[in-house]
Amino acid sequence: MLDGYKILTISHRKTPLRHIGQFVVNHTDDQELQLRLASLKNTFGIEELIYLATCNRVLYFFYTEKNLSSSFISSFFKNIQPELSSEFINEHVNLFEGASATDHLFKVAASVDSLVVGEREILRQLREAYNRCMGWGFTGDHLRIAMDGAVVAAKEVYAKTRLGEKSVSVVSLAVKELLKTNLPKNARILMIGAGQTNSLVAKFLKKYGFSNVVVFNRTPEKAQKIADMLDGRALPFEDLPSYQEGFDCLIVCTGATKALVDKKLYSSLLGSDDARKVVIDLSVPNNISREVIETFDTHYILIEGLKSLARKNLSFREKEVTNACSLLEQHLSDFELKTRHRRIERALHQIPIEVKAVREKAMNDVFKKEIEILDNDTRILLERMMLYMEKKCTGIPMKVAKQALVSV
Ligand SMILES: NC(=O)c1ccc[n+]([C@@H]2O[C@H](COP(=O)([O-])OP(=O)(O)OC[C@H]3O[C@@H](n4cnc5c(N)ncnc54)[C@H](OP(=O)(O)O)[C@@H]3O)[C@@H](O)[C@H]2O)c1
Repeated sequence: MLDGYKILTISHRKTPLRHIGQFVVNHTDDQELQLRLASLKNTFGIEELIYLATCNRVLYFFYTEKNLSSSFISSFFKNIQPELSSEFINEHVNLFEGASATDHLFKVAASVDSLVVGEREILRQLREAYNRCMGWGFTGDHLRIAMDGAVVAAKEVYAKTRLGEKSVSVVSLAVKELLKTNLPKNARILMIGAGQTNSLVAKFLKKYGFSNVVVFNRTPEKAQKIADMLDGRALPFEDLPSYQEGFDCLIVCTGATKALVDKKLYSSLLGSDDARKVVIDLSVPNNISREVIETFDTHYILIEGLKSLARKNLSFREKEVTNACSLLEQHLSDFELKTRHRRIERALHQIPIEVKAVREKAMNDVFKKEIEILDNDTRILLERMMLYMEKKCTGIPMKVAKQALVSV
């Protein structure tokens, strides 16, 4: 029943992240991607196709009655990236067919197969990939019902298991610690560094309503971007030693390999204020010197503690995988039944057309002469009876087939 479903995928499970990008469809804009995928679909006779690319997974989910030989797989990926060797493709590509393909799809959607188990972002990415491919006319009934099933199953996994509970991101754990300090929403927050990590911190600060933020960074544009997000201010990195406006919370995260905030700088930022300050250092290695913490009164949120909490939380989530998989099994078995129904529905699709043709032939050809001599009322009654029969006859095979399937 599920034979036509196929997945070709490269993921973090088997492939280092640096190689995953070699299997993506290179494109400069959506239009080029659409053209390249359409060509792939035509070249390899694929009926329906969904293409998903994330930073730790590339997945081609398709429907075709063809068997996928290793030469098919090799040509498929060489069409995408001509420089890939057959050995490299063989080493990294996983093939899932039939029930294993739908099983894999459901696991990906429910984040059971994710690098960070329970991260819901993958479901959004998968739905987005589906909607895009559907918009381009690459999908049909087969992938639609598979996606519907996967989304419903994933939502139930998120709702009924604890797979997504307990944060595993150091940044979100740091912000949780920050919230525990009851820092007022108008607290003066001084942020040093404007890379990816602090940008994520900024998103959380915005979410929780902090807006009195000043950002220092070497590259002013990046500091400005964060400042704009928070209605704050961006200042040049070199002005840090002369900053005199004080702070209640210091958040430091840069790629510097030695401490940027030493006793002297901290003392000058503090001025005459000797109140306790919240200090967060997410940098590896730390950017706030140990001396600062030992000398001043701080509520210090340190990355090391957060990392071990993140690991503990991740192992908690991994234990939930068993529960998630049992739920998925139920959904997969429902899905298989549904695909049987759909297959029969598709096969029975012709019945109404043929029954109608029989009625029309009977009325207009076989019994034409006999009908012509009937009076008007009798003819109308006969037509109504024939229409009634047509409707009923159309429904019977569908009903019987469904009953037979349920009792299997
Ligand atoms: N534990 C974790 O889970 C975790 C997660 C992510 C990151 N981190 C740590 O966080 C730090 C930053 O990571 P990221 O992902 O945000 O990096 P990123 O996106 O590359 O940004 C690096 C930031 O550091 C600044 N920077 C780099 N070297 C500097 C220097 N010598 N002096 C002053 N500023 C400097 C950069 O300034 P410009 O914009 O001017 O280049 C930029 O703002 C790293 O230490 C990383 O190990 C830890």
